Amino acid sequence: MSTPTPKRRGEVLIRLDGIRKEYQLGETTVRALDGVDLSICRGDYSAILGPSGSGKSTLMHILGFMDQPTGGKMFLGEREVSNIRPGDRSKLRATEIGFVFQSFNLLSRLSVIENVLLPVEYARRKIENADETAVEMLNRVGLGHRIHHRPSQLSGGERQRVAIARAMINKPRILLADEPTGNLDSRNAANILELFDHLADEGNTLVLVTHDESIAHRTRRVIRVLDGKVTEEEVER
Ligand SMILES: Nc1ncnc2c1ncn2[C@@H]1O[C@H](COP(=O)(O)OP(=O)(O)O)[C@@H](O)[C@H]1O
Ligand SMILES: [Mg+2]
Repeated sequence: MSTPTPKRRGEVLIRLDGIRKEYQLGETTVRALDGVDLSICRGDYSAILGPSGSGKSTLMHILGFMDQPTGGKMFLGEREVSNIRPGDRSKLRATEIGFVFQSFNLLSRLSVIENVLLPVEYARRKIENADETAVEMLNRVGLGHRIHHRPSQLSGGERQRVAIARAMINKPRILLADEPTGNLDSRNAANILELFDHLADEGNTLVLVTHDESIAHRTRRVIRVLDGKVTEEEVER
């Protein structure tokens, strides 16, 4: 019997090796991640799937440099980033990762285009024609006609599109989305998922965090999380 040939995958962008994350609550230790081995490769379209409390958000926060593991090793390409300084961590978070959250997290006092431009400021990296790039991103998500609106003047689905344009403006290596359709009705949710499919088809690297099997089944790869462990990885369906 021949061994199946592994499907060809892109270069490894981020690799986790025995990653642990513990929270100390008084006398109790909460083990949110308990030895996770995982690689995210260029061009992956993955879902991190698991029930509430399984460790999905913790895993996403670590992959996105929002939080530091308490054990194990983490690599960005060849570079070990397990114990870097907080300033370096913020820099990586701002330049390498795009984030989309369930509650959109737009700033209500800023217009749509000002929201999209925020990560350019955070990254402290010059982008030529930042305004034009922001408009281009908004066009890509179908909101080119709403650039001067305030978030409160948009539907939930439109707000999430703004958040996606904002997440993409620095051309991050990885786009991480935590329950991105959790606050949307089914029609808006379907539109946002189609947008993710489209971004994946264009070659972007996406990780969708979800408790919803039906969302996970549109991605090419499913990473199942249970009790802080990656229990199963289906690669390239
Ligand atoms: N800041 C924190 N302090 C203490 N416990 C936490 C903290 N964040 C998460 N946890 C615990 O870690 C576990 C995993 O949480 P989380 O990653 O948010 O799960 P999920 O996103 O899958 O619902 C849960 O038991 C949760 O209560
Ligand atoms: Mg969560």
